[in-house]
Amino acid sequence: MNSEKQPEISPVQKERTARMYEVYQRQPYLIELDGIKLNVARGVFPPEQGYTTKLMAKVIKTYSVNTVLDMGCGSGYLALTLRKNGVPNVWAADLNQAAVECTKENIKNNPDLAPIEVVHSNLFSQISPEIKFDLIVFNQPFYYGNGPFNVSPDEGRPLNERFLKEARNYLKSDGKILMNYSDLGDEINNPKGTAELLGYQVKVKLMEQGESFSNEVYEFS
Ligand SMILES: C[S@@+](CC[C@H](N)C(=O)[O-])C[C@H]1O[C@@H](n2cnc3c(N)ncnc32)[C@H](O)[C@@H]1O
Repeated sequence: MNSEKQPEISPVQKERTARMYEVYQRQPYLIELDGIKLNVARGVFPPEQGYTTKLMAKVIKTYSVNTVLDMGCGSGYLALTLRKNGVPNVWAADLNQAAVECTKENIKNNPDLAPIEVVHSNLFSQISPEIKFDLIVFNQPFYYGNGPFNVSPDEGRPLNERFLKEARNYLKSDGKILMNYSDLGDEINNPKGTAELLGYQVKVKLMEQGESFSNEVYEFS
């Protein structure tokens, strides 16, 4: 469990968690997103349900870069999107073994988007610091809802902080990080504040106002 005291779970969050359990019960299933064929395996975050996944997919299309890491790759949708957008070297990592297998399967389902280097890793633990990325994308879990796809014991602000501290060692000198936030989550888990405290420069790359909450993608450099 996360050692930091988290705020009470709101009704909107409860509804979201219940939806995620419904989706979990239906897994595995096949979908197609932006022409990418995805098998969403049992226990893997469903990209079509991700408010910030969709925003992140839009934002990554605006970067013309060489070497990118999709941290917390889930089904591999963002890693495959990067390849579709012509990024030559794409890495994908996840702590969830089911996500690692799912991403590998989805690369086979989209052979024209291979290769992608897939790693089972708790953040950067299995990635050599000799590899430097132009861009690291982490569509990180943004609220602490105890859902079926929550895998990291320090999810929330502690995970954001650990990630932002380690990521520096894996970035080229002009490298950038993309992370997300939705105020469906709790402000304490917004990576923007943590990034500012750690000395990153912050840009809001995209913001979407929904009916009851807003979603944002940040660039940290
Ligand atoms: C919100 S999902 C995003 C999945 C996918 N990138 C997408 O946009 O559809 C967050 C992902 O981060 C992964 N994750 C959580 N903690 C992690 C950690 N400590 N190291 C690596 N991956 C982690 C989860 O397993 C999950 O696949």
